[in-house]
Amino acid sequence: MIKYWTCPELAALRRMRERFLAGTAGAQDYWRLPEDIALYDRTFAERIGWKWDAVLAELTARAWQPQSRHVLDWGCGSGVAGRRVLAQWPHLASLALHDRSPLAVRYAAEKARADFPQVSIRGAEPTLPPDTLLVLSHVISELPERELAQLLDLARQAREIVWVEAGTHADSRRLVAVRESLRAEFAAVAPCTHQRACGLLTAGNARHWCHHFAAAPSTIFQDARWMDFGRELGIDLRSLPYSFLVLERPRATPPTPAGFSHVIGEPREGKGHLKVLSCHADGVAELILQKRDAPALYRALRKGEATPVQRWQVVEGKIVAATEFPDSDPAA
Ligand SMILES: C[S@@+](CC[C@H](N)C(=O)[O-])C[C@H]1O[C@@H](n2cnc3c(N)ncnc32)[C@H](O)[C@@H]1O
Repeated sequence: MIKYWTCPELAALRRMRERFLAGTAGAQDYWRLPEDIALYDRTFAERIGWKWDAVLAELTARAWQPQSRHVLDWGCGSGVAGRRVLAQWPHLASLALHDRSPLAVRYAAEKARADFPQVSIRGAEPTLPPDTLLVLSHVISELPERELAQLLDLARQAREIVWVEAGTHADSRRLVAVRESLRAEFAAVAPCTHQRACGLLTAGNARHWCHHFAAAPSTIFQDARWMDFGRELGIDLRSLPYSFLVLERPRATPPTPAGFSHVIGEPREGKGHLKVLSCHADGVAELILQKRDAPALYRALRKGEATPVQRWQVVEGKIVAATEFPDSDPAA
């Protein structure tokens, strides 16, 4: 059988994965070799990039883009988050990269310079000049409470924040806590459709967490290297759960008009119906969608093809129709 990864590469990938899963990655700087960062960039970071693609697609669908002209990628690692936002928003004129690992900053800067020669790119102290978008990606599990609090002090100086994390219960719950502590100074752009306290904070919703699923590009399933990567590391390549939070300084009009909800996770299928966990200004609640009430909407939600932001028409706890955001014809 052809092997697409060398034994040292597999050993390095397994070490990284174990550290991330065990939650011990925060203890100390773990980037020792430039080749490990390059390997991370081609594998784990690539998968993280697909989560960023999903987040940026949702922001585009919601007609949102940052007003800032500068970006700080904090905890940049190999720099995938910074590169994704530069590709998405060409008006961004500079990228600052910060990581406790100088090796990571050097790798991320070289790669970003190669991809975006027109953008000013530098390694940076963790400071936020005005007019800066702060991006954070997969850092929260590595930060003890005290360091997270310091990071939030920095975040308070940002104009906008786009923060993407793994879709685990623990990381998503910490992101909810971040939203609560920044709620007085920022407006929630996404995934939230409202500015009230997070509805997941009620006792009845303790088992839920705010997470979503990104799609991996279909080409990887024909790519022997990726298939071998999944097999060797025991990773289901189809599953890309993530959590995210996008904040901006409050403006005269809220980022999302009143009345819209956001679907959390994937709807659960029952006999002839879906159970949809839905977040709304009034709280988080499970709604039923019967196939016979709105077949097109049912199909779109079941296949993951509906946008997650919907204005439901609900009758006695059951969805009977919906309008996508931005407004379109009710799908029924
Ligand atoms: C899992 S990696 C994620 C890297 C990158 N943001 C991504 O999404 O691929 C976490 C990164 O956070 C960095 N990090 C952890 N604690 C940090 C701290 N206290 N200050 C700055 N960087 C930190 C690590 O060095 C590592 O590069």
